[in-house]
Amino acid sequence: MNIILLGPPGAGKGTQARFLVDGRDMVQLSTGDMLRAARTSGTEMGNLVAGVMDRGELVTDDIVIGLIEEQLTTTVAPGGFIFDGFPRTLAQADALGALMDRLGKTLDTVIEMRVDDAALVDRITGRFTCGNCGEGFHDTLKVPAKEGVCDNCGESDFKRRADDNAESLNTRLMAYYKETSPLIGYYYAKGQLQSVDGLAAIDEVKGSISAALDKVG
Ligand code: AP5
Repeated sequence: MNIILLGPPGAGKGTQARFLVDGRDMVQLSTGDMLRAARTSGTEMGNLVAGVMDRGELVTDDIVIGLIEEQLTTTVAPGGFIFDGFPRTLAQADALGALMDRLGKTLDTVIEMRVDDAALVDRITGRFTCGNCGEGFHDTLKVPAKEGVCDNCGESDFKRRADDNAESLNTRLMAYYKETSPLIGYYYAKGQLQSVDGLAAIDEVKGSISAALDKVG
């Protein structure tokens, strides 16, 4: 099953994608993670996109489409792919459709995670992740069971993202409403859209997504 998780910054796409990877043997394709990895390894492309990402603006379509194409053609995904943070523009959505057709794959459903903007500010500014395994946490909403120790891998190296501040978040939200939210109508018109309440507790959202996937799987 190949699915898109669609929602604004902080909607919980990454959090829910990890459950699907663990529970359904799916592969998460997060363009945000790919771009951050390129920055960390200091590639030419990584250096090119660093400032754009820190400001909260969108990276150009050709770069992210190229990243997705590379992953789709080289990665084996027994349970299918989760597109997390991609597509983000109508051009990216068209490109994904063409790519899937070319590779003989289908897009099974698009899950819109509905949230309100006030909750997003709190979620984003309180977020931190394990630098070793990538498990996500939050200062108040999801604290590690033992302070300073990752629940998942036991390491103590946590990090915060450079774009997780109020100013960049405003730009990211604006980019979402201008460029990405039209995809809700785009996939609705294609009969592929399902919506879940992203404001519910993490486990409830997990259950809603599971039910949505069972409808098409
Ligand atoms: P990206 O990395 O994709 O960031 P994003 O879309 O802004 O999404 P986030 O990762 O911030 O949020 P999320 O929905 O995954 O939330 P999370 O699960 O962490 O993109 C970063 C940048 O890269 C972009 O700004 C752009 O520059 C560039 N980029 C990436 N893709 C691109 C593309 N396709 N085109 C162009 N440019 C691109 O949850 C957030 C917090 O809330 C966590 O602390 C979590 O614990 C908590 N939480 C989650 N769910 C719940 C819940 N239900 N209840 C309570 N707390 C919750």
